[in-house]
Amino acid sequence: MAYLEVRDLKKCYRTRNGPTAVLGGVDLTLEEGEFVAVVGYSGSGKTTLVSLIAGLIAPDRGEILLDGVPVTGPGPERGIVFQQYSLLPWLSVRGNVALAVDAVNPGMPASARRRITDEFIALVNLTPAAWKRPRELSGGMRQRVAVARGLAMRPKLLLMDEPFSALDALTRATLQDELLRIWAERRSTMMLITNDVDEAILLADRIYPMTPGPDAVLGPAIEVGLPRPRQRRHMSLEPAYQKARQALVEFLRAARTTR
Ligand SMILES: Nc1ncnc2c1ncn2[C@@H]1O[C@H](COP(=O)(O)OP(=O)(O)O)[C@@H](O)[C@H]1O
Ligand SMILES: [Mg+2]
Repeated sequence: MAYLEVRDLKKCYRTRNGPTAVLGGVDLTLEEGEFVAVVGYSGSGKTTLVSLIAGLIAPDRGEILLDGVPVTGPGPERGIVFQQYSLLPWLSVRGNVALAVDAVNPGMPASARRRITDEFIALVNLTPAAWKRPRELSGGMRQRVAVARGLAMRPKLLLMDEPFSALDALTRATLQDELLRIWAERRSTMMLITNDVDEAILLADRIYPMTPGPDAVLGPAIEVGLPRPRQRRHMSLEPAYQKARQALVEFLRAARTTR
């Protein structure tokens, strides 16, 4: 069994205007220490999939197992980084990260919790801004706090739902490079949701394309054969990059025209 097993996940929202069949039987696996991306058009059901794995909503059918344990609700072993800033505005960078560290380590001495908090703030290069409040930070810095907070909980799985899509292109590239470095250092198990094909190829070991809804499903995973460490500068010239990109784009295009 894989570290994360998602089997035949079906989800329909019942609204006043009738039901919306969003996911039609999603299958996905993720191994420990792996970086997997899910790529799809907006409105496909990507956030719905993340919300199900996070345990924030329940599926109509199917199951999710993380490390052999069924997901039945939210839990600290699954960290989430949302698209929009989700920091507490009245707390500093330190306060936001410390809150998460304290929550998952209630019995730990304060000095050890402080050390973990500082370690993860340093990991995202925010030590000089540790005492700033969210409103004093740029969008990129805020998302780095969210990444630090998610990782500082030392989750079994870090879920990231379009974490960089609200950022300008230059900032987005910087954060992608940072995430690449962090994953290389930590080998955390990560699942990235994105609508950016190049972001997925730069970061992921494997990529699942998602068909547009209703009843969205994932296509077969596409292996990214690019060696690591990766560098964006030379990436687009590599045959492995072109192969992964072509497979992904072709699947997404075909999935759209058959709807
Ligand atoms: N809570 C909800 N109630 C009803 N419909 C929803 C809800 N959340 C999302 N949807 C609908 O489900 C579809 C998929 O949404 P979402 O999972 O957010 O897609 P994505 O993240 O890929 O853009 C969309 O048509 C959206 O309008
Ligand atoms: Mg979404």
